[in-house]
Amino acid sequence: MSPRSSGESLGVVSDETSDSDAPSMSESQDVVEITDKVQDLPLSSPQRSKKRRASTTYATNSEDIRRLLGTGGGTQFLQKYCCGDGCCMVEALPAASGQPEHIFIQQPDNDAYRFLGLTIGSLTLNTGLTKIVDLPERKISFGAIRRQSINEKFPDETKHGHDASVVNVHPPTYMQPHPPYNIFSAPVYGARELTKPGAEKRTFHFDLDVTDYPEEGGVDFKVGGAVGVCPPNDPDVVEDIMNQLGIPRFQRDKPVRLFTSGGRWPTIWGDEASRELVTTRREILTWAIDVSSAPPTKPLFRLLAEYAEAPNEKKILLFLASAQGQAAFCDLRTGPHITLQQLLHAFPSSKPPLEALCPVLNQLMPRFYSLSNDPHVSSAREGLAGRRLIEMAVTVHETPSFTGQKRTGVGSGFLERIAAKFVSAEQSAHPDTLPGVAGRRLNLQIPMFRGLMANPLSREFASDGPMVLIGAGVGMAPFRGFILNRLKNANCANKIWLIQGIRDSTLDEIYRGELGAHESEIKKVVQSRAKAPPVSTEDPDVLNPSSSSSSDDDVDKPAKVRDGTDKAQKVAKYVQDEVRMQADIVWFAINAVDGRLFVCGSTKGMGEGVEGALIDVAMDKGGLDYETAKAFWEGKRGNGQYIAETW
Ligand SMILES: Cc1cc2nc3c(=O)[nH]c(=O)nc-3n(C[C@H](O)[C@H](O)[C@H](O)COP(=O)(O)OP(=O)(O)OC[C@H]3O[C@@H](n4cnc5c(N)ncnc54)[C@H](O)[C@@H]3O)c2cc1C
Ligand SMILES: NC(=O)c1ccc[n+]([C@@H]2O[C@H](COP(=O)([O-])OP(=O)(O)OC[C@H]3O[C@@H](n4cnc5c(N)ncnc54)[C@H](OP(=O)(O)O)[C@@H]3O)[C@@H](O)[C@H]2O)c1
Repeated sequence: MSPRSSGESLGVVSDETSDSDAPSMSESQDVVEITDKVQDLPLSSPQRSKKRRASTTYATNSEDIRRLLGTGGGTQFLQKYCCGDGCCMVEALPAASGQPEHIFIQQPDNDAYRFLGLTIGSLTLNTGLTKIVDLPERKISFGAIRRQSINEKFPDETKHGHDASVVNVHPPTYMQPHPPYNIFSAPVYGARELTKPGAEKRTFHFDLDVTDYPEEGGVDFKVGGAVGVCPPNDPDVVEDIMNQLGIPRFQRDKPVRLFTSGGRWPTIWGDEASRELVTTRREILTWAIDVSSAPPTKPLFRLLAEYAEAPNEKKILLFLASAQGQAAFCDLRTGPHITLQQLLHAFPSSKPPLEALCPVLNQLMPRFYSLSNDPHVSSAREGLAGRRLIEMAVTVHETPSFTGQKRTGVGSGFLERIAAKFVSAEQSAHPDTLPGVAGRRLNLQIPMFRGLMANPLSREFASDGPMVLIGAGVGMAPFRGFILNRLKNANCANKIWLIQGIRDSTLDEIYRGELGAHESEIKKVVQSRAKAPPVSTEDPDVLNPSSSSSSDDDVDKPAKVRDGTDKAQKVAKYVQDEVRMQADIVWFAINAVDGRLFVCGSTKGMGEGVEGALIDVAMDKGGLDYETAKAFWEGKRGNGQYIAETW
């Protein structure tokens, strides 16, 4: 028994029709033998001291989205940025000679600048800089338009309001991430928090009402599919950026004509073409440009330098766009997450016009969220009066910010704000009010589109056959749909095994108690951070039985035993550890004719970790050598039996 797992055993659900030759935990291999093998394996945790890569962005432009939406295979796409080692282009700064002509730079004295942690070395106001990137081309411009002319010249533009009161509710028509269809504002039917106070990451559940979702070529929402959500930027951030840019208040919500000289922007999937449309500055900053989730680029620094009035700010910004500043630039992209808002605070004398800024920022892209239930099961719930629902679970991404507060991700932050309003209305409702009614009165909406309904999870899900589901964090969400789908068909309520990776079962075991009647038999929970039970000091063997510390430094260290030797513990702290322990079940399922193994979770380590464990299982149970075991899983991937969706 793993000291870190929650105690449930991963058994076999069988019904009358089951031939059940699948192994159960009781028939399983000698656990001691397996854990002994596990302790000899290389530690599987992430290398925390390693510098992070600049960013993992699923979709930064229309091409990425095309790939995501195109074929299921495209969802494995990942965009990688600069390696962060400063290996390319760097040229040394000349040493400051201390001669009178060298004017040392006074670095900006503000928190936003300090948060950058910049090293400018011997940079002076007179340092010669080379290979400064060109000033980005102006590709857009604004023109005046009278409200009267909007109706006459741009009748489509009258379909959505541009006023400040509605601008945050629904995206402008021109975005169209899913042409020829428009973005649908799905009413929020329910929202609740799945995690408990104190959880390292908060996760929220949503029920969205898609009854009025328009017909789209006969394709419907499917179990395992993922919807696209078009999130707005945080309205407070947008307001602050406009303040920093010095955009006068009267201009912020005033309709303007926007002219573009080519490209797709501000559409997401439109053709490459020049455009003329009606929008407002607030609307553009809210929906069309990514102001926070991508690391800064040299063209952005070059542009900020161009408009910086203070010589010290200008020089530092030029440095970051030059060969001499390459190492500092790479550090910025791989260090703290920097946003446009922060840069405008760090270099307050730079106030570029919005039309110059837009072309150097990424387009704000949709975020994808897996359905956490079978839409047919959701819509069959009692009391819906024929309404159709989809469900999803969203984990909030947070990063430190220069304000000292944490900053949320664009999509998950938006969804958290929506959930918070819903939950707060529910909490302050009269006790006699039926659940959900007070929240629904707020008319909250989520701009979304059907998204990925032919992605590998939904494509390969089968209504029969043994199925091993391995999910960490919110990665288990689509598996709730799989399980509930199977359970609605009595013949299929067998041979499902879920290995769910969480941090602490008291805080973040999402969807606990929501996986149907057989939950405790089909599920094994693996906790990575549960506090170990207190150990008697009388214990002859162990001083500290668990690496329960959440300290980055400690977490991978084996516990010390009293005699001073290091002895790795028999600890299953990640899902891959449990995969090794459940080798019999994994091997049975993947070798069954209609068996499948699904993996879902973070790309940062978990995917590779599970893959390594699966290779071990094939070597151990199949007697294969390493290369053959690898090829075995590749083959299973190729024929749709092994499906890994890690992001
Ligand atoms: C097919 C698919 C299904 C998915 N299903 C789910 C699901 O069911 N539930 C779920 O919660 N999520 C799911 N996701 C992930 C989800 O789409 C989003 O990626 C996630 O919510 C984070 O988006 P965000 O806008 O909140 O964060 P973003 O603002 O996009 O930030 C995300 C990450 O980018 C990096 N980053 C942010 N800002 C910067 C910066 N300034 N500089 C450098 N790096 C930065 C950080 O690592 C940050 O954590 C799924 C993704 C895909 C592709
Ligand atoms: N369809 C899809 O593709 C899809 C659907 C839903 C979710 N997702 C993705 O799933 C991910 C879920 O992330 P999350 O933020 O909820 O959780 P998370 O931060 O990834 O953590 C979940 C659990 O995984 C553990 N973990 C950390 N490193 C690991 C490793 N190397 N191997 C195994 N486990 C490891 C964590 O432990 P510690 O923190 O204690 O180390 C924690 O207990 C997101 O990236 C999301 O994009 C994808």
